[in-house]
Amino acid sequence: MTADIIDGKAFAAEIRNKVAGHVTRMQADHDLVPGLAVVLVGEDPASQVYVRNKGKQTVEVGMASFEHRLSEDTSQADLLALLDRLNADPEIHGILVQLPLPSHIDSDLVINRIDPSKDVDGFHISNVGLLATGQKAMVPCTPLGCLMMLRDRHGSLSGMNAVVVGRSNIVGKPMAQLLLRDSCTVTIAHSRTRDIAEVCRRADILVAAVGRPEMVTGDWVKPGATVIDVGINRIPAPERGADKYRLVGDVHFESAVAAAGAITPVPGGVGPMTIACLLANTLTACCRANGLPEPEGLTA
Ligand code: GUN
Repeated sequence: MTADIIDGKAFAAEIRNKVAGHVTRMQADHDLVPGLAVVLVGEDPASQVYVRNKGKQTVEVGMASFEHRLSEDTSQADLLALLDRLNADPEIHGILVQLPLPSHIDSDLVINRIDPSKDVDGFHISNVGLLATGQKAMVPCTPLGCLMMLRDRHGSLSGMNAVVVGRSNIVGKPMAQLLLRDSCTVTIAHSRTRDIAEVCRRADILVAAVGRPEMVTGDWVKPGATVIDVGINRIPAPERGADKYRLVGDVHFESAVAAAGAITPVPGGVGPMTIACLLANTLTACCRANGLPEPEGLTA
């Protein structure tokens, strides 16, 4: 058996199309343009690429993009003051502070300064608490994208065994909360989990979000399971030439694809879904701020 490959690139394009349709109608019917502010502090090359892509896709779906690029030595006080201005700005419905922040800045303090209703990353403690208690929250983009792909494949997830490998605040923990909300039986596995291969082999849904290249191998995968690979790892690829790299996930694709029923590739799986869900969250935030009905199929 070889697994179906879940095409995240096509799925993300579909989401962006839906978002763009809503944005067009919002402007026509309500004279409203959703606005997303992205704040980048410092020169981290990977972060610069992400921020550029976010800005480009925001404009492509018809939203307003506000980019704030601050120098590496920006003070915490100045960053907090900027967030206060963005919080108060009625043209801005979503705010994202790109992580990681320089070490002299307290990331938790910064994230918790964002107005929770504009927190399109879903990292504010209010949103974490709302999600955990089953209330209306802003949901972190990567887990939201994974949930959309799982619902698309399975319809109802009720009663399925889900194992999330990884316990980060950005992916592992919110992913587990979302799966629990969809009535899965959820296990969070991590670096200290005993017999982790055995734990994973019980999963109907296996989500790998540990940041360790190709850690999850085919013998960890229950035959027919759906495998969602959140990892994006750059590893040396000497076969492509000196100093060349290639991208791999947290799942060893060649062995897992032989066991799974469906699997997301890297690249082209979960990755493109993250920005698409950021745009969906910005639209949702704009609807909520203006008392409009929320877009169907674009929220958790
Ligand atoms: N850095 C890496 N992933 C993310 C993310 O999802 N949101 C933010 N704000 N920064 C990140």
